[in-house]
Amino acid sequence: MTEPVLIVEHLHKAFDSLQAVKDVSFRVNPGEIFGLLGPNGAGKTTTINMICSLLPADQGAITINNMPVSTHNSSLRQRMGVVPQDIALYEELNALDNLSFWGGLYGLSGEKLKSRQKELLSKVGLQDRAKEPVSRYSGGMKRRLNLAIGLLHDPDLLLLDEPTVGIDPQARHQMLDLIRAEANKGTAILYTTHYMDEAEQLCDRLAIMDHGQLLAMGSLSELETLVGERRILKIGGTFDQDWVNKLISTLSDVQLLTFDPAQITLSVPFDMAIGQILTVLQEQGLVVEHLDIKNPNLDSVFLKLTGREFKD
Ligand SMILES: Nc1ncnc2c1ncn2[C@@H]1O[C@H](COP(=O)(O)OP(=O)(O)OP(=O)(O)O)[C@@H](O)[C@H]1O
Ligand SMILES: [Mg+2]
Repeated sequence: MTEPVLIVEHLHKAFDSLQAVKDVSFRVNPGEIFGLLGPNGAGKTTTINMICSLLPADQGAITINNMPVSTHNSSLRQRMGVVPQDIALYEELNALDNLSFWGGLYGLSGEKLKSRQKELLSKVGLQDRAKEPVSRYSGGMKRRLNLAIGLLHDPDLLLLDEPTVGIDPQARHQMLDLIRAEANKGTAILYTTHYMDEAEQLCDRLAIMDHGQLLAMGSLSELETLVGERRILKIGGTFDQDWVNKLISTLSDVQLLTFDPAQITLSVPFDMAIGQILTVLQEQGLVVEHLDIKNPNLDSVFLKLTGREFKD
C-alpha cells in the first residue's frame, strides 16, 4: 500500500474567539488530487497555511513524507510547492526573473533552471510575455505564473489555494489539465476551491468544509450517496409556511429542505413521479412559476449537510 504524502490529524486553530479550524483530519496520497470545498470563511486557507507552516496550529499534527511539520523545517519546504490564494510575485520583475528568484530559493540554477523556466512558461501559456514586468499582467496571467512557480522544483506535495479564481474559461481548462498531469506524474495535490464544478471535475476525493469543520469526505460518488437515491426539486411560487408544512405531511417520503416565501426546496425519492407532486400543488391552488430538478450532486450534498445552499 502506498504511504500518504500528507497526513493531517485533528488540526485546530482559533483567532481569538473565532474557531477557524476545528478537528480537521485528512490524508493525501501520491498521485491524488484531494479537494477542500467550502464557502468563504470555511477555513481552507487557514488549513493550508498551517500545512506550509506559515501559521502555527493550536492543536493537531501534520506529517509530510513521514516527517512531522515543525515551525522551521527547510528540507520539507523543498518537497512542497505552494500556490497561495494571495498572489506572491515581484511586480517589477518579469516572469523569467520571478521564476529565477523562486527557483534560486529552491536550489535550482544554470541549465536546469533555464529549461524548467521555458517548460513551465509554455505550459501556462506565458512564453510570449516572459520578458514583460509582471505589473503589466492581467490578474489571470499572474495566477498562471503563480502556478508555474509552485511547480518549478517538481514538489512531492502541491498546495493550491483557489488557483483558478479570476481566470478565463480557456486558461482555466488549461490549468486544470496541467494540474491533472502533475498528479498523473505522482504528485500529491491539495486543492481548495469554492467552485463545485471544479471539485466534481478534478478531485479524486474531497472533503466538504464549513465553519472550520469537515462535514463529509470521500469520492464524488461516495458523497452523492449521502443524499441517497433522491432528487432535489426547487419550486418557485408564492408560499405560506403553514400551508407548505401541511402539504408536505400529506406526501409520503418528501422532505422540505429550505423554505422561502418565493421558493421551496424539496427532497424526493428518485422514483417518485414529479408530475404527481406538481398535480398536488396545483390542486391546492399553487401557481408553479418555475421548477428545477436536480439529480444528486455536490450542491445537494451541501444542502443536505448544512441546510443551506452553496453559493459561489
Ligand atoms: N489572521 C486572521 N485573524 C483573524 N481571523 C482570521 C485570520 N485569518 C482568517 N481568519 C478568519 O478565519 C476564518 C477562516 O478563514 P479562511 O481564510 O481560512 O477561510 P477560507 O475558507 O480560505 O475562505 P475564502 O474562500 O474566502 O478564501 C474566517 O472567519 C476568517 O475571517
Ligand atoms: Mg481562502
